[in-house]
Amino acid sequence: MKRIHLYVAAGLLFVVVATAYALYRSGYDPGTPSGSIQTNTEVRIGGPFTLVDQNGKTVTAADFQGRFMLMYFGYTYCPDVCPTSLQFMVGALALLTPEQRAKIVPIFVSVDPERDTPAHLKDYVSTFSPDLVGLTGTTEQINTTARSYKVYFAKVPGEKGAPYLVDHSSITYVMGPDGKFVTHFGHGTTPEVMAERLRELL
Ligand code: NI
Repeated sequence: MKRIHLYVAAGLLFVVVATAYALYRSGYDPGTPSGSIQTNTEVRIGGPFTLVDQNGKTVTAADFQGRFMLMYFGYTYCPDVCPTSLQFMVGALALLTPEQRAKIVPIFVSVDPERDTPAHLKDYVSTFSPDLVGLTGTTEQINTTARSYKVYFAKVPGEKGAPYLVDHSSITYVMGPDGKFVTHFGHGTTPEVMAERLRELL
């Protein structure tokens, strides 16, 4: 139950942040005397990153430029939330045409680099789709990336000596071909709804 509350809290926080950002982008002015938009109120989601893919190769955000990135942050030992979200993500892409699919890179970023080695990640992502890219890295690389995407995650001890779990926000980000934040899908967004929105964006 505690984990569900955290997802809800993280989701709500994200909605607040995203709304503020959307208002900023639409030119909403909360009363600046000059009427100008203050750029320091901009909320940035995403940005450059340097990580390691499932083949052990160092990759940066620039490697994906020109295509939309569908990004989800989680970990391979996640009992239920990540597998469901990744199935939905892959399910949404399956509803698109091959031409549409070619414009999107689905990416799973680990928030558990300690256990999610490239080799381990490779086995995991391949069970969902041959197109799914798995990214991991050093703890510092992951922390930096998660921070820039406003991803919440925290290690929690497993019960009765079981391996630790990682609480994490469950949001699928859509980043544009220029690497900038476009929109997001909240936890549980169905493949049909996701596919519909992606068609509009492509
Ligand atoms: Ni998970």
